Order: sequence, then structure tokens, then C-alpha cells
Amino acid sequence: MTSARLALLSAATAAVAGCEGRQSALDPQGPGAERIADLFWLFTGVSAAVWLAVMAALAAALLRQRPLPADEPLRLDPAREGRMARLVAVLVLATAAVLVGLTGASYLVNKSLAEMGGEDALRIRVTGQQWWWQVRYESAEPARTLTTANEIHIPVGRPVRLTLASSDVIHSFWVPSLMGKQDLVTGRENELVLTARRPGVYRGQCAEFCGWQHARMAILVVAEEPEAFQAWYEAQLAPAAEPASAAARRGRDVFLSKACILCHAVQGTPAGGRTGPDLTHVGSRRSLAAGTLPNSRGALAAWIADPQAIKPGSRMPNVPLSGDELDAVAAYLAGLQ
Ligand code: CUA
Repeated sequence: MTSARLALLSAATAAVAGCEGRQSALDPQGPGAERIADLFWLFTGVSAAVWLAVMAALAAALLRQRPLPADEPLRLDPAREGRMARLVAVLVLATAAVLVGLTGASYLVNKSLAEMGGEDALRIRVTGQQWWWQVRYESAEPARTLTTANEIHIPVGRPVRLTLASSDVIHSFWVPSLMGKQDLVTGRENELVLTARRPGVYRGQCAEFCGWQHARMAILVVAEEPEAFQAWYEAQLAPAAEPASAAARRGRDVFLSKACILCHAVQGTPAGGRTGPDLTHVGSRRSLAAGTLPNSRGALAAWIADPQAIKPGSRMPNVPLSGDELDAVAAYLAGLQ
């Protein structure tokens, strides 16, 4: 197989694979995404029908070509001209009707999406950062307000009202299986309501070019049964776990003595930085660096050792650590479940 055909084949495979699974607008798992998918299929169906009708008419015209009168090729047949004018008028009206119909359908879907949600919605504030997502569960009680990053847990079946903001440039929040996209804009707040019908892990991706690491700005929405969600929430509210091993204890001491605490917070310790992700329960998250690495002790060590090699341009600097220190810090952070 030539390399061109191989490239074409892999592009086609990727295109098809991109339409299914946990990050796909064509695999809707919530009412918002379902309405958008229905609208997509309506547009696709109507457009395909129009295209087929045009192609059929073209084929019929080509096959039924009549010979021109030999004596006077430019002579017009008034009866036929009249029929043609009426046909064109009907087709113009039909085109206008299709356009108005599709515009109306689009308007109605947009309107229904904007009206989604309810007063019992769970409220979460999502702030876009270059290049990660700060997630804050808001509560009237300050002690029950929870800050995390890059992973949103939600209860199945309950509407979730996201308040979207940005701390730097424009980002766009898009979890295609659950809802359409919405921008995060500096200096204003946008809202998005999403609901998951079934438990699952739905991947999302920043959908507005926001700089060098735009592509590595993924987010996971973990939809759980209400009891599991509540248990997760209570566990996340707790201060950081005490280190369970000598290595982890040493890791905590190293972490607290280095520049890490200028950017990161670990509840229950003096670390209170606000510019980077809250690490109180970083060990419980599925990924690191906004979906860049799967979370593990080894990946933590690799990330801390050289973040600029893994995610060039990210705000996480290289903090000089010895091999022992690095291993200890990774052990400490991996234990923050
Ligand atoms: Cu944030 Cu693209």
C-alpha cells in the first residue's frame, strides 16, 4: 500500500472513530446533546434529500435531451417556456420553504437549550486557564465549597448549571456527548446547563484556540449515581490525607519547602497557592495536566521532572529536585486520594 493510501485510510479510520464513544456529538447521553443530534440529523436528512432530487433531475435532463429543430435552432416553444417558468417559481418557493423550515427548527432547538435547567440544579463554576480547568462547586456554606481541577463529577439525572468564566483568554467548554459548546470569556460569565442520563465518563475538549497548549486542554465529566456522587463530594471536602509511608512523609516535607506551594493548594497544609490546580485530592483524579497524562505515580514524577517537555509553554515551571526528592514528592501526591 502506498503511503498516500495509508494516510487516507488512517484519516478515514480516525474520522469514523471520532464519531463514537465517549466524546461524540453523535453519541448523545443527555437531553441537550440529544436535541442537537436530532437537529443535525434533520439538517443532514433534508440536505441529502435535496441533493438527491437535484442529481435525479440533472440525470433526467441529460438523458432526455431533445434534438434542436434543424431549420431554426434558437426558436422557442412558448408552451414549454411557460411550463418551465412555473416550475422554476415552484422550486424557488420550495427552496425558501426548506430554508425557513430549517431556520425555524434551529431557532426552536436553541430556545429549548437556553431554557433548560431548574432551580434544583447543581451549580458549578468552571474557570478556563491556560491550559487547564478550575472547577468550583458552589455552596451557601463556605465550608462546603469545593475546588478541584480538570474533572467534574455530576449526579446522573440532575441538571447541572455551569457558570463559565476565564482568567486569561477565550476558551470554549465542549463535552459533545452531553451538550453543545459555550465560550469562557474574560470579564463576563456565561451559563451552560447539562444533564447526563447514564453513568459514565464523558470527555470534553477546549473548543476555542487559546494558545500553544490548546490541544492539551481536555476535561472529564464523571456522571455517577446520586449516592456515589455524594460520597465523592464528601471525600473531596476532607482535608488532604496524612502521608502513609516514609517516602510520602518526606515528599510532603519537600513539597512544602519548595516553590510548589506558591501555585498549588493542599487543604490541611500550609500550601495555599491559587494559580495552579488544587492538589488536595490530586491522586484521585484520572488524568494529569488536563488530560495530557493518565494519573499514576510514575506519570506524576515524569510531569514534575520536566513539565516543559510534556506540555511546552505551560505555566508549570521546572522545579529543580534531586532524584530522591522527585520520587518522594510523586509518592506524596499519588497518596492524596
Ligand atoms: Cu482553552 Cu483552547
